[in-house]
Amino acid sequence: MTTAPTLLPQALLEAPLRKDSGAPPMQRQLHHRIKETILDGRLAPGSRLPGSRALAEALSISRNTVTAAYDLLAAEGYVEPDRQGTRVATLSRPPPRTERNPSPAPATALRLRHIQPSAPRSDASTTLRPGVPALSHFPLAAWRRAVDRAIRRGGPSALGYGDPLGEPVLRAAIARHLGVARGVRCEPAQVIITEGAQEALTLCVRLLTNPGDTAWVEDPGYRGAKAAMHAGDLHIAPMRIDADGLVVAESDWKSRPPHSPPRLIYSTPSHQYPTGAVLTVARRLELIAQARRHGAWIIEDDYDSEFRHAGESIGAMQGLVAQAPVLYVGTFSKTMFPSLRLGFLVLPAALLAALQTPLEEMLRGGHRYEQLALAEFIESGQFSRHLGRMRRLYRDRQQALREAMARHMQVPHTIEGGHCGLHLTVRLPAQYPDRKIAEAARRYGISPYPLSGFALQPGPEDNGLVLGYGNTSAELFEPLVRRLSQLARAAEIA
Ligand SMILES: Cc1ncc(COP(=O)(O)O)c(C=O)c1O
Repeated sequence: MTTAPTLLPQALLEAPLRKDSGAPPMQRQLHHRIKETILDGRLAPGSRLPGSRALAEALSISRNTVTAAYDLLAAEGYVEPDRQGTRVATLSRPPPRTERNPSPAPATALRLRHIQPSAPRSDASTTLRPGVPALSHFPLAAWRRAVDRAIRRGGPSALGYGDPLGEPVLRAAIARHLGVARGVRCEPAQVIITEGAQEALTLCVRLLTNPGDTAWVEDPGYRGAKAAMHAGDLHIAPMRIDADGLVVAESDWKSRPPHSPPRLIYSTPSHQYPTGAVLTVARRLELIAQARRHGAWIIEDDYDSEFRHAGESIGAMQGLVAQAPVLYVGTFSKTMFPSLRLGFLVLPAALLAALQTPLEEMLRGGHRYEQLALAEFIESGQFSRHLGRMRRLYRDRQQALREAMARHMQVPHTIEGGHCGLHLTVRLPAQYPDRKIAEAARRYGISPYPLSGFALQPGPEDNGLVLGYGNTSAELFEPLVRRLSQLARAAEIA
C-alpha cells in the first residue's frame, strides 16, 4: 500500500532542507522542523507522521535520515511509534502568545523592583573607583607558582567536586588568620568558603529569614547587602549612621506593626561603608545584647579592615563577647583581587548543627585549585607580606589624596573616615549634585561613586563622592581632583 498524499503535512514540505556547505546536518534540520511543527500545533496530538520513505522522497533526502530524526523525536517524547507508524504525542503546549496574552513578567521583577541602577561596574576605568585594590601591585608571579603547585599537588582528583563548605586546609588557614589578625573566635568547621562576600550575604538571607521578615541595613550603606535582602523579599528598614556608626535607639527594638523587630542586621562596624565611621564599643555591646534579647542575627561585613592606616587595628565585633549572635563575613576581593571570587562566612557555633546539612545541599565546592593555592599563600606568610606592602601603599595613597583635595578641591567639602581601607568619602553641599558630577566624571574616565546612591532614602546630607584610591596611582591625584573640582562647579545649582 502506498502512503496517501494527504499524510504529507504541508508544514514539513514548505521549504526544501538546506544543502549548502554551511548548513546544519540534514537530520538535525528535519528534527528541528518536525519539532517546531508539533510545538506550534500544526501537527496535532494523535496525528500521524508520514511514512519515512514518502517523506524521504518528498524532501529528496535519504530514508535513514528520516528514521534517525523520528527515532530522536521518539526518544524525546514528541512522537510515539505504534504498529501503524508514528503518531504525534499528546503534549500540554502553552497557549500561543497574543497581544492580549503577553508573556508574564519575570517572577523576580516584584522583589527586585527596588534595586536602582548603580554606576556601571564593568567599564574599563577603575580610576578613583571605590573597592578596587591595587591590581598592578599584586604578586602575580608568586600567585601563579602557588596555583601551579596546587595543581601538581591536587592532581586530577581536585578537578572533581570538593567539600561543599570549602577546602579544609583553607578553612583552617582562615580560622587561624582571623584569630590573630581580627580577634575572631572560631573553629575551622565554622568557616564556610563562599564566592566572595556577596554569596555569604545571600546565604545569610536564605538560611536565616523568611520572606517578609525585617532586616535592618545601614543607610547609607552597601548596595550589595540591600540587593541580597531584596532578593530574599525582606522588609528593609534603613538605619541612620552618625560619626559613631550605626544608630539604633531603644525604641527601634519595639515592634512597629506590620513590621516586627529585625531578624537580620547588616553592619560594617570596623569601617562603615561608605562613610568610614567606626562603631563604638558601647554601641557594639548594646547591639549584641539587644540582638540576643530579640532573636536577631547581626551580619558583620569586615570587608576592608585589614588595611588600617592609623592607630591599632579594631577587633571584630564577632570576637567581642563569647557566642555573639554574629555572622562574620569576609572577602579576599580587597586583600587579594576581586576576580578570585573567594570569601567566607563564619557561622556562630550555635548555628552550625542546624545549617551544616542545608549548606552541604546548597553549595558545590568549586575553585579547588585556587582554594588550595590560597591556603598555601596564607600559611607560607606570603599573604601577610602582601598585606603589609599594600597597607603601606594605601596609607601613602590616602595621604596623597587628602593633600590633593586640600589643595585643589575648590568647592566646600568635608572628608570623612578614611582611617582604614581603600576609599575616602567626601561630603558636598546639596547644591553640588553628586550624581551629576559622577556622571560627568565618567566621561573623563574617572569613576567615583555618588554618595546618594548608597542611601535608600537620601537626604540632603547624603550628597558627596566616594573616592577609591586603591587602584589609582598617587601621581594622578592632583589633576584628577582639579578635574573633579571643575566638574562640581559646573554642576552647581544656582
Ligand atoms: C561593604 C562591602 N562588602 C563586601 C564587598 C566585597 O564583595 P565581594 O567579596 O563579593 O567582591 C565590598 C566590595 O566592594 C564592599 O564594599
